[in-house]
Amino acid sequence: MQAAQDRFTRFAPLLAQLFPELAATQGRIESALLPVPAMQEALGQPLARGRLWVKADHSLPVAGSIKARGGFHEVLELTERLAVQHGPLLNGADYRSLASPAARAMLGRHQVAVGSTGNLGLAIGVLAAALGFRTVVHMSVDAKAWKKERLRSSGVEVVEHPGDYEQAVATGRQRAQADPLCHFVDDERSLSLFVGYSAAALHLREQLATQGVVVDAEHPLLVYLPCGVGGAPSGIAWGLYQLFGEHVHCFFAEPVQSPCFLAQMLAPAGSHPSVYDHGLSNRTEADGLAVPRASLLAAQAMRAVVAGIFTVQDRTLFEHLAMAHATEGLRLEPSAAAGFSGPLEIAMGAPALACPGANHVVWSTGGLLVPDAQFQRFLQRAK
Ligand SMILES: Cc1ncc(COP(=O)(O)O)c(C=O)c1O
Repeated sequence: MQAAQDRFTRFAPLLAQLFPELAATQGRIESALLPVPAMQEALGQPLARGRLWVKADHSLPVAGSIKARGGFHEVLELTERLAVQHGPLLNGADYRSLASPAARAMLGRHQVAVGSTGNLGLAIGVLAAALGFRTVVHMSVDAKAWKKERLRSSGVEVVEHPGDYEQAVATGRQRAQADPLCHFVDDERSLSLFVGYSAAALHLREQLATQGVVVDAEHPLLVYLPCGVGGAPSGIAWGLYQLFGEHVHCFFAEPVQSPCFLAQMLAPAGSHPSVYDHGLSNRTEADGLAVPRASLLAAQAMRAVVAGIFTVQDRTLFEHLAMAHATEGLRLEPSAAAGFSGPLEIAMGAPALACPGANHVVWSTGGLLVPDAQFQRFLQRAK
């Protein structure tokens, strides 16, 4: 976790140079921790059950989602490895030397590929292409048209698959194996993605301290994380568990039709079920969460860590998306609204945790790049 954080710091000057929107933060990619009292009231959650916050990854710059954390980390780790192999290209501590024509030419001999429902593809695609890599994103049927268009306009090759997320990943992985100069970012198995997500915990700890939020037995920290294949929420939950131990309680939120992590945690040891086995459709407007089978790496890491999992109807996602916009001016995509059901689930299912000293952090995971017309359609749908 610390190594991932240090890597982000080393690359910050280069990132600030590649992406003008990062100039203000000197290349640091982070999100605010927002108090959301109006949303808390609209949700009908009294302060006697604790205070509500939003960890605003929906506004993460460049990639516009939580996937920037893990996705960027893996691309940066690969870049660093290749640069070290080609020694003279990396000019000591100044990583901006990786924007030189010679370094870009070296990186351009390599390909980065990924399979995605959309947001991981956006994160990997935008950064890898900006660094000079040849970049291919395999998109599942759920991926939204605007995400594909955005990638194509950044010079990324988008391969559209008629099947679901699992099939897009499997095809991408298989094609990548045929090319020794191709690095496949494996959303189902990657430790680099996992530790990239985990580094968020270090920053959240800083933000909580700045806001004067204490985490202990009387002040439990409850964190609600939207879950697709499980990598992002598990990486973050694992990181928070290293820092806060038994006083942090991480809950995952999944669509009713795509509860792959729940299915995995309930399954007997050694099995790897899919939501289709339970007669579910895996069809949901929460495109980022439309995953039929969980990551085993994530599930294994979460056995002793995740506090619980709840499912959310699509209509509730839209209701909360519109509520977050009306009360706090947040622009979320449907997947990113999944955590807002958390505090109510806790009040019903684990009332002892919903105490006056509790802090509830809803992780809002994407939305910044959603085009206006699309966002208006979300609000219309909510109505
Ligand atoms: C907006 C959003 N939230 C949450 C997730 C869940 O991340 P993971 O699939 O790693 O569980 C995704 C995945 O793409 C996403 O796009």
